[in-house]
Amino acid sequence: MSHPLFPSKDQILRYRREFLKFLAASPCLAAVPPLEVLESMFWQNAPSGATVGNDLSSPKDALDVMDFEAAAKKKIPIAHWAYMAGGVDDDYTRDANHEAYRHIYLRPRRLVDATGISMKTELFGTVYDSPIFICPVGEQKAFHPEGELAVARAARAKGTLQILSTLTTTRVEDVARALGTPLWFQLYTLTDWTGTEKMIRRAEAAGCPVLVLTVDNTTGRNPETYQRLRRTDTRNCSMCHEGEPGSTVNGRPMYDGIDMTGLNGRTNPAMDWQYVDKLKKATRMKLLIKGLDTREDAQLCVQHGVDGIIVSNHGGRATETDRATIDALPEVVEAVGNRIPVLVDGGIRRGTDAFKALALGATAVGIGRPYIWGLGAFGQTGVERVLELLQKELHQTMANCGTHTIADIKRDRVGFAKPYF
Ligand SMILES: Cc1cc2nc3c(=O)[nH]c(=O)nc-3n(C[C@H](O)[C@H](O)[C@H](O)COP(=O)(O)O)c2cc1C
Repeated sequence: MSHPLFPSKDQILRYRREFLKFLAASPCLAAVPPLEVLESMFWQNAPSGATVGNDLSSPKDALDVMDFEAAAKKKIPIAHWAYMAGGVDDDYTRDANHEAYRHIYLRPRRLVDATGISMKTELFGTVYDSPIFICPVGEQKAFHPEGELAVARAARAKGTLQILSTLTTTRVEDVARALGTPLWFQLYTLTDWTGTEKMIRRAEAAGCPVLVLTVDNTTGRNPETYQRLRRTDTRNCSMCHEGEPGSTVNGRPMYDGIDMTGLNGRTNPAMDWQYVDKLKKATRMKLLIKGLDTREDAQLCVQHGVDGIIVSNHGGRATETDRATIDALPEVVEAVGNRIPVLVDGGIRRGTDAFKALALGATAVGIGRPYIWGLGAFGQTGVERVLELLQKELHQTMANCGTHTIADIKRDRVGFAKPYF
């Protein structure tokens, strides 16, 4: 249980933020710099709890995926960092995603032969080394010059599924080749159907067997943490940041050959279930929906012939005060009743987190920011080490809990208490 004398890392970050807000607002302290400057000063100097005394010079030195967070922070430009690290409004949902795992404890079974553990996971005909997968994250060259290619090579080395964002900074054809196993393509639809169809055909031609439609971010968002820290980075980066003079994401590789005049490459507010039907008919790829978290929407997915669900709130980057995804997962799993696979992402930072999600019915578990920390810190080898650490931790947890295969990880291996750790 968290103790007032020993607050968790997340609690320390929240206290710090509140304190900096107080300082910035204090009339007695006229000379105190504005909040965003205070925050950036703190960030520049702040060691992550896990990396105190451990200046990461090689990916091999990392003991957990959080070690990469501080290492990446030193290398990634502050505005790019803030774009990646932030959520929306007060970042409550982003933090809740991870914190919620602390309310779940394990129920290990003892004296079970713990040799021959297998994490192999099958998804739509392909077998992966583990159920941990790479979530779609846009703009990866903002974090490392090799961007999505470095991630694909790492995913290949670690037998991992990769989902490529519509906002990729590398061509889908090149990423598919580097990955070597079937690449899944995540779709942000355009308000224009012709352009959307062109992207679908291109993903099909590149050999993608699965189309992942993201539905949690169709109307825009309020990324306040990003906006605050963006102001402290005075470099002109109009290719990256929407809102800068002359900036646009419309030049991204997926929009090659599409007339983007008047189109926004991310939001399509009119999208509804009829659109899902149209999309389903328009492609031979399997169709997954990413970004829902209620039983009602899960039931609609089944009714509309959707092939799978990713329970997600975009890493807390879309709707503020949404539930933690791990708290939403059980009702979605129950509504679907084994008819289609249910995957989950958000706040997964440990093998134990992955195990808990699997116990609550997830078929596979996705990571976003952790592999971007690895990418930003070291490129391909950083991403490889992030995957290796999480795979190792999950393997260890399975052995400790008496589960040989992913199918053995059942609901009775976890329990709830609020708050627990
Ligand atoms: C910098 C960044 C960019 C993202 N870009 C996309 C995207 O282009 N498409 C998408 O469906 N989700 C996107 N996401 C959400 C991730 O796919 C995933 O849902 C989320 O990161 C999981 O939470 P985690 O970061 O706590 O692991 C992005 C997330 C981050 C952090």
